[in-house]
Amino acid sequence: MNLKEVDAFAWSSLVAATTDSQSGFRFINLCSVDAAGRPQARMVVLRRADTAARLLEIHTDTRSPKWLELSRNPFVTVLGFCASSRIQLRLVGAARLHAPGSDLAEKAWSELSVWTRNTYAGGPPGEEPDNNEPVPVTGEAGGKAYFGVVSFRADALDWFELRRASNRRAVFEYSDLGALMAARWINP
Ligand SMILES: Cc1cc2nc3c(=O)[nH]c(=O)nc-3n(C[C@H](O)[C@H](O)[C@H](O)COP(=O)(O)O)c2cc1C
Repeated sequence: MNLKEVDAFAWSSLVAATTDSQSGFRFINLCSVDAAGRPQARMVVLRRADTAARLLEIHTDTRSPKWLELSRNPFVTVLGFCASSRIQLRLVGAARLHAPGSDLAEKAWSELSVWTRNTYAGGPPGEEPDNNEPVPVTGEAGGKAYFGVVSFRADALDWFELRRASNRRAVFEYSDLGALMAARWINP
């Protein structure tokens, strides 16, 4: 594979992961920086990938610490590893938040299963459960007010292939519009 093919394969793997629950990139690590300047990482489901725009989309609860962190500091690293292809993708870029009521959040919510909608209907993430509280309203009404979409735009990709004899590594840079601007092999 040449560098262009490596980049294309990396992004087609991300696109495939959005509909393939067995893909190694189905769950990715979303890393942000908290108010104290410390790195924070958590697994999230990759919901959508757009190769042309170099965008990844994830869903989250807007009451969660990550939402607050990203609203204060949009710089993000996304890290993924696929055990079958033995490829690590490290993408750096910035997050844009689509709050409840925004077009993107409305559209994404409308496509969610009732089961997934219910995951947003509980108490605020990270807080102690209040066992005296009545069971929250579920479904349509319950979690929609807390449902947000994070769209991440990649500026660069660090691609690493783990191989028994000789690991390979390459870096790619993208323009604001998502065009591939630079690509080169580097030492692993
Ligand atoms: C496999 C897996 C997938 C997850 N997917 C999501 C997700 O898509 N969105 C989300 O907000 N949290 C998801 N979580 C939970 C997060 O990892 C995290 O624990 C939670 O969102 C709180 O993160 P925060 O305190 O940094 O905001 C997932 C956890 C696991 C283990």
